[in-house]
Amino acid sequence: MGSLSQELTLIMCKAFKALGLPTEHARVQISGQGQAAQFQCNGAMACAKIARKNPREIAKNIIDQVNQNTDNKDIFEDISIGGAGFINITLKDTYIATHLKNLIKDVRFGILSVEPNQTIILDYGGPNVAKAMHVGHLRSSIIGDSLRRMCLHAGYEAIGDVHMGDWGTPMGMILSELDLTGFDGEITMEMLAKIYPKASAACKEDKNRMALAREATRKLQDGNNYYTNRWREFIDVSIKGMKNNFDALGVHFDEWKGESDAHPFIKDMIEDLKSKNIAVESEGALIVPVAHDDDKKELPPLILLKSDGAVLYGTTDLATIIERIKSHNPIKIIYVVDQRQALHFEQVFRAARKSSIAPQDSIELIHAGFGTMNGADGKPFKTRDGGVMRLEGLISMAIEKAQIRLDEAALAKDMDDNERDDIANKVAIAALKFADLQNNRSADYIFDIDRMTSFEGKTGPYLLYQTVRIKSLLKKADAQNDIACEELKITNSDRGLALLLSELPDHFDNAMKLYAPHILCDYAFKLAQEFSSFYGNCHILSEKDEILKLSRLALCQQTYKQLSLILNLLGIEIPARM
Ligand code: ARG
Repeated sequence: MGSLSQELTLIMCKAFKALGLPTEHARVQISGQGQAAQFQCNGAMACAKIARKNPREIAKNIIDQVNQNTDNKDIFEDISIGGAGFINITLKDTYIATHLKNLIKDVRFGILSVEPNQTIILDYGGPNVAKAMHVGHLRSSIIGDSLRRMCLHAGYEAIGDVHMGDWGTPMGMILSELDLTGFDGEITMEMLAKIYPKASAACKEDKNRMALAREATRKLQDGNNYYTNRWREFIDVSIKGMKNNFDALGVHFDEWKGESDAHPFIKDMIEDLKSKNIAVESEGALIVPVAHDDDKKELPPLILLKSDGAVLYGTTDLATIIERIKSHNPIKIIYVVDQRQALHFEQVFRAARKSSIAPQDSIELIHAGFGTMNGADGKPFKTRDGGVMRLEGLISMAIEKAQIRLDEAALAKDMDDNERDDIANKVAIAALKFADLQNNRSADYIFDIDRMTSFEGKTGPYLLYQTVRIKSLLKKADAQNDIACEELKITNSDRGLALLLSELPDHFDNAMKLYAPHILCDYAFKLAQEFSSFYGNCHILSEKDEILKLSRLALCQQTYKQLSLILNLLGIEIPARM
């Protein structure tokens, strides 16, 4: 089964087909708020344009066709022409009830599953070894982890790969700095955090110092034993630090690979591209031209090797595609990376197509770019003293604020410190994640700790609170298990919530199609609000009509289940109580 609009689309498809109209215009959609009908199909206008006929006449034929079909006799309360040729649809309450009953019984709540055994690799997080993680990595992690959860729920084999920056000259800078200090004890995260900025500044200033870094990089990449061991040591230390951060955020990775994992593939790749004349020499460098004749903007070539023989970011990204195809044979790779790297990915993707490393018809390459998280001044978010805010700092700031918010709202009052801390933690992460995910991915947004931690408005804490509230209502009704509701009763006060519940598959599919968790955020917020008015307008526990009471409890339970599912897809954990 699917959503109501998906079911209606099938009914329309049949009618369109019978009339010889193109079925791609048969799509039925949910009407916008405040509209007279619940659903609409606008296909008659498109068909009229093609056939050069009157759209209202075509709409009438479609409606007659639908009404003629006896299968449809218990579906429509009203199906009629509106305006220039829209088909407006309102359903019988009994039909909505039957649909919803099936949806409640379905473990997937109407969301269809994709064909099995299709793998998608998601590339997100992308922290750089030896550098502390900053808020720029926050968006990538939060969005990427949510997309991974969505892919899994859709039925894909989804693999999240952190793809660390663990290769290239920065590694040589650190190794040569360790050489210079003569230090060969155990490396710690604090040390690394100091060594790298120091080495990088020194290399910028001094050519000879830079030459040492290059030499160390080359030795590492050629497999020198000593350097490889040292490198492994600080990679491990770095990963430990990253894991702490990602655990605190509740972000999961299936693989802890990095740019270095592409290294074994680079040599053969370059030979192959050279032999096919796809990689060519230019001013001493080796490049892949990727411009097309019809490009509106000039697209510079992808540089594989610099004139000094060093490989670049694009080289490792291209070779990583080879590595990923070899290890997982994915149907798709999704890169959740800052929008400002759009040109880089365009170059890499074009080079991958041109070289047949990633053939167009077997693997999709998607750059799901995102905008910047800004401070109140509209510039990239900084600490109060103007430094780059680290991830740890940001998380503790949110937790502190969540504690204050819990006090203000008089929540979690009678709990011991442990449970209270746990709730504050969950509220803080919900606030951070929801504030990020609710924005259109590619838009910039302003980081506003006061707003995002509020229990009012479109926030993570508000959704947590509403969800927990429904749970306690169900508990009061003693509805621990699924409510055995024989008959769903849809009255004027239930209809809005019932219709909205049945929309879940539509929003899920859209969010998947556009790699857009904000669509799920919008839906969850709408659902929570609709539930609020349902709760305000209806008798539930005090309802005298036993059947109606059970029916309403079933709606409550379904709302709880759907909110829980969406929060889970957003990577937001729900406290047991609040
Ligand atoms: N390490 C990179 C950065 O900090 C992000 C890596 C993104 N993933 C990729 N395959 N290029 O900007």
